[in-house]
Amino acid sequence: MGAGITEVFAKAGFEVHAVDNNEAALDRGRSIIAKSTGRAVSRGRMTEEEQAALVGRITYFTDPAEAVAGCGLVVEAVFEDLDLKQEIFKKIDVAAPEDAILATNTSSLAITAIAAAVSKPERVVGVHFFNPAPVQTLVEVVRTVYTDDAIVEQLVKLLKELGKSPVVVNDRAGFIVNALLIPYIGSAINLYENGFATREEIDATMVEAAGYPMGPLALADMIGNDVCLAVLEKLYDETKNRVNAPAPILTRLVIANMQGRKTGKGFYTYVDGKPSEDRGPIRRPMQSRKAELPDRLVGEYLNNCVKMVEENYASVDAVNTGMAEGCRMPKPFEVLKEITPKRVLEIVEGIYAETGEPGHRPARLLRQLAAADDQAAAIDELQASTAELHASNPRG
Ligand SMILES: NC(=O)c1ccc[n+]([C@@H]2O[C@H](COP(=O)([O-])OP(=O)(O)OC[C@H]3O[C@@H](n4cnc5c(N)ncnc54)[C@H](O)[C@@H]3O)[C@@H](O)[C@H]2O)c1
Repeated sequence: MGAGITEVFAKAGFEVHAVDNNEAALDRGRSIIAKSTGRAVSRGRMTEEEQAALVGRITYFTDPAEAVAGCGLVVEAVFEDLDLKQEIFKKIDVAAPEDAILATNTSSLAITAIAAAVSKPERVVGVHFFNPAPVQTLVEVVRTVYTDDAIVEQLVKLLKELGKSPVVVNDRAGFIVNALLIPYIGSAINLYENGFATREEIDATMVEAAGYPMGPLALADMIGNDVCLAVLEKLYDETKNRVNAPAPILTRLVIANMQGRKTGKGFYTYVDGKPSEDRGPIRRPMQSRKAELPDRLVGEYLNNCVKMVEENYASVDAVNTGMAEGCRMPKPFEVLKEITPKRVLEIVEGIYAETGEPGHRPARLLRQLAAADDQAAAIDELQASTAELHASNPRG
């Protein structure tokens, strides 16, 4: 992620100081940038001169204090470890200029806890880029209870100038995208473990019937099973919602270092980065319920999208943008309109009746939308009113 974020800023004309632990790690970063910009050149999106200029704007360091001196914005993207991030922030707090913005790219840690480690926590903010950062337009800008509004405004302006789509949210486990995407993946893993359908059936069904770009188990392998587990654990800790509890098979894959593509094995086995015939954790169901899959997974996911709006965490627009630009999934509230809130309510009531899990209870707001005479108009109204609410009440 560090290499990708470096490329984003260098491409926009900024002088960028890239820092990592040692020369070997810096070389890894250099080669990621060389490959990514090389691809852009071969696709005609960048000239060779532009590539050379971009690379020339990056200076590499192994000492963070030296790297951040004179910088206006610092973006941290070290391993997902709170102690490490706090230690880094203490260093940059002292070494960076007093008016520098200190940002973290964490996916699952409380940004408030990182901010609490520095002398001026009001200048700490989350900037959650998506992988690959040069290509993905969505950036979640996360403010804490400390964060200065002016810093959020400055960052949003800057990100827009870089061609990104910033979405501002408060500090809560998973922000928008991971809080919606990872529980969907977690549910698919649970269904797989509990013999609902085979691995291939689950993945193929969600691509064919739900129109998602890839199946949830293949997606877990791509994101990294360790990352999925970490996000689910954080969500579970914060919400105490048992639906977010990671399935045993996910924890076992992580223990076995089967993190997915990056380690060559996960739900599938990968040879040269592509899924192969393998001895993965193949579980065959007693009786496949694959026909129920799209309703089951999409219904639960849409109910969670509606709950997020109901909880006043995000607007309809922010949820739509987050899932479309962050995951290339159809806009959830457009899908809700198409399926209709009434039908989604029926589906979710069915799931809740079967599982009895409080986390599967239909959202109150879903019931309201389902009861409207004109359900599509009710969604439009919700979209307009939440856009206004979140714009006028930026602290949520
Ligand atoms: N991978 C993703 O899709 C993704 C997406 C969004 C956010 N993130 C977040 O970005 C961060 C990095 O994730 P990643 O996937 O790029 O991890 P990674 O393991 O690929 O990279 C982490 C880098 O940090 C370096 N590092 C570790 N300790 C350091 C130190 N003390 N000083 C300087 N550099 C140090 C490592 O050498 C390594 O190059 C995490 O917080 C993660 O949650 C990841």
